[in-house]
Amino acid sequence: MNESNEEVLKWKKRFERERASRKEAERLLEEKSAEIYELNTELENKVLQEVVKNNEKQKMLFQQSKMASMGEMISNIAHQWRQPLHAIKLISQKIYLHKILGEEIDEDLIQSVEKDIQKQVDYLNNTIEDFRNFFKPNKEKETFQISDAINLTLNIIDATLKQKQISVTVDLEEGLFVTNLKNELMQVLINLIKNALDILEEKELSKKIIIIKSYKKDDNVVIDILDNGGGIPEEILPKIFEPYFTTKHQSKGTGLGLYMSHEIITKHMNSDFEVFNQNFNYENNNYNGALFRLIIK
Ligand SMILES: Nc1ncnc2c1ncn2[C@@H]1O[C@H](COP(=O)(O)OP(=O)(O)OP(=O)(O)O)[C@@H](O)[C@H]1O
Ligand SMILES: [Mg+2]
Repeated sequence: MNESNEEVLKWKKRFERERASRKEAERLLEEKSAEIYELNTELENKVLQEVVKNNEKQKMLFQQSKMASMGEMISNIAHQWRQPLHAIKLISQKIYLHKILGEEIDEDLIQSVEKDIQKQVDYLNNTIEDFRNFFKPNKEKETFQISDAINLTLNIIDATLKQKQISVTVDLEEGLFVTNLKNELMQVLINLIKNALDILEEKELSKKIIIIKSYKKDDNVVIDILDNGGGIPEEILPKIFEPYFTTKHQSKGTGLGLYMSHEIITKHMNSDFEVFNQNFNYENNNYNGALFRLIIK
């Protein structure tokens, strides 16, 4: 073998060695890539699992809070129905009363009884319709008048307000429309009014004030809900939106109301939710309490 052949052979061997080691490197790289891919998929699955778990948890909280407001609503319906049902009973006794008094039962009497009963039945139908609409799982945005949502909410909890002898002062600008989730907004309003009722009851105030205002600010519609319950103590202010945070006895509060309300306003409705303690003057007297402000976009 001459020198140049030897040289070629040497180069060939070196080349093959290098090719083998490149192949090995490539194989290793592939192996590592597969490992990384597997790890990544595993990680993605884990994240996905956690997201699902979180969503489930969120759903459960929503369900829990919806059940609480359902219970509240059912007792409202019961209150709201008591009076018209009683009225129907009295009206229907009218004919019998006429009979035992020996008075004539003429067409006019029958017609007036029928008309009165119909009026009560219409009222019953309307309240049940309001409740039904409220509980419809309607996640679609709709265009509605803010004052309409506020008045409907007050209608729905009318029986509770009457029972607690509280009249809500409303100052609503007319003609303010938004396109957003009406039922969810009503759910938030119920939560906020209920909190105001709770604090007014707890403080045993002689003058119980709840004021609801709506007005336009920039391109948004603002709803203010103000009470004279003395406000929220500074030290608990940062915690009130946490789930399960409550200062009430467990039979009275779950601590989900404000958490849910905040989620609904900021996440579902892409709007803003603010809270402050506020001094205010009402009918020439000074009061202070919590002000919840919803800025609906
Ligand atoms: N208008 C208010 N005035 C004073 N404190 C309030 C007012 N609204 C809420 N808070 C405080 O914030 C806490 C949390 O309110 P949140 O509505 O989340 O729960 P809750 O009313 O205690 O229970 P739930 O609403 O689930 O029945 C209340 O326990 C109360 O201490
Ligand atoms: Mg509450």
